[in-house]
Amino acid sequence: MGVTGGIAAYKSLDVLRILQRQGHGVSVVMTHTAERFVGSASFSALSGREVGTHLFGDAEQPGYHHLDVNDGKDIMLVAPASANTISQMASGAASSLLTSCYLAFRGPVVVAPAMNTSMWLHPATARNINTLRADGVHLVEPESGLLADGAVGPGRLAEPNVIVAAVEAVLAGAPSRRDLAGVRVLVSAGGTREPIDAVRYVGNRSSGRMGWALAAAARDRGADVTVVQANVDLPREPGIRYVDAPTAAAMHDSCRAEFPQCDMLIMCAAVADYRPVAAADGKLDKSTADALTVQMERTTDILAELAALRDEQVLVGFAAEHGPAGLERARGKRTRKAVDIVVHNDAAVEGAAFEGPDNVVTIIGPGDAEEALPRMSKRQCAERILDAARPLVHAGTVTA
Ligand code: C5P
Repeated sequence: MGVTGGIAAYKSLDVLRILQRQGHGVSVVMTHTAERFVGSASFSALSGREVGTHLFGDAEQPGYHHLDVNDGKDIMLVAPASANTISQMASGAASSLLTSCYLAFRGPVVVAPAMNTSMWLHPATARNINTLRADGVHLVEPESGLLADGAVGPGRLAEPNVIVAAVEAVLAGAPSRRDLAGVRVLVSAGGTREPIDAVRYVGNRSSGRMGWALAAAARDRGADVTVVQANVDLPREPGIRYVDAPTAAAMHDSCRAEFPQCDMLIMCAAVADYRPVAAADGKLDKSTADALTVQMERTTDILAELAALRDEQVLVGFAAEHGPAGLERARGKRTRKAVDIVVHNDAAVEGAAFEGPDNVVTIIGPGDAEEALPRMSKRQCAERILDAARPLVHAGTVTA
């Protein structure tokens, strides 16, 4: 078990305790920064083993060498994993004992990141996390919540029992559920922009985070994933195909083209319901009039249109509604649009729906089923939505 520097380092004592209670022997290596948060003596007292902190053995620490890391070790866990250590692991740097052990170790590796929200959301960290994933590292996603710096957001170390469960799952040879292997999932994400003139548009606040989370979750469960995306400014994930569709018309064309090749469509994009009838050439000149009236027309409801064309595809729609009557409207949408599942979110709830890392959703369908979920990360919501949709996939499709 590798421990890196961060306020969450004290929680790895709990992780160690639970691992031992489950019958595992644990050897700990710490970075120097970790030692500033928790003393190595706590880990050696609990584990009953020498704790490695230095890259080179010395009189105080004879014999601990990173090349011993394969001796009888089944799995490596890094908890908490700091942005710095994640970056070193992603680039293959071997400047600490911990990262040298990572490079030398031949077994499976589980990483549980913890850092402040800005560091976690930084594109450099996202890139490094993607690299680790592509290198086969198993990630225990950080949770959202109140962090040590007083901010609320993603970055908090997952609970010790969640981390231990991930370690157990990897050890049991079930690295992740592959229950969507062979299933082709089409996800629309982001928000369309409808041009008024060459530089202005009518748009909405969708960030694309929910669609991104759905795509990543489906990929991790073995699906073949295509994302039709409108104006999303988030790092792209490896192993996912992206098609750009910035306007409702482009989204319509791309979804129609991709739909026959998919087994499940999750229409998560906020598609404009109205667009300017015609976009002005060039930039409208404000000196010519004090008021501007833009004539708008309805766009095609892509989801309803595709539902009428469907073969055996599973269809999931979203309904971002405002206020208490919204749930009933969302139920109505499921029937009217003839889709299997509608995911309702209340745009009036603080911190839910648009832009943020979390969501509060009710999954309506299939059939009479209805599940009101508490606030959770968009990734966790995505897993629950896939759990609900997965049984509807045509039995012959899944290869797992
Ligand atoms: O009716 P409403 O726009 O609230 O329905 C939302 C659902 O319909 C979402 O799944 C959205 O992606 C989809 N939609 C669509 N085409 C539109 C507008 C919304 O497919 N023009």
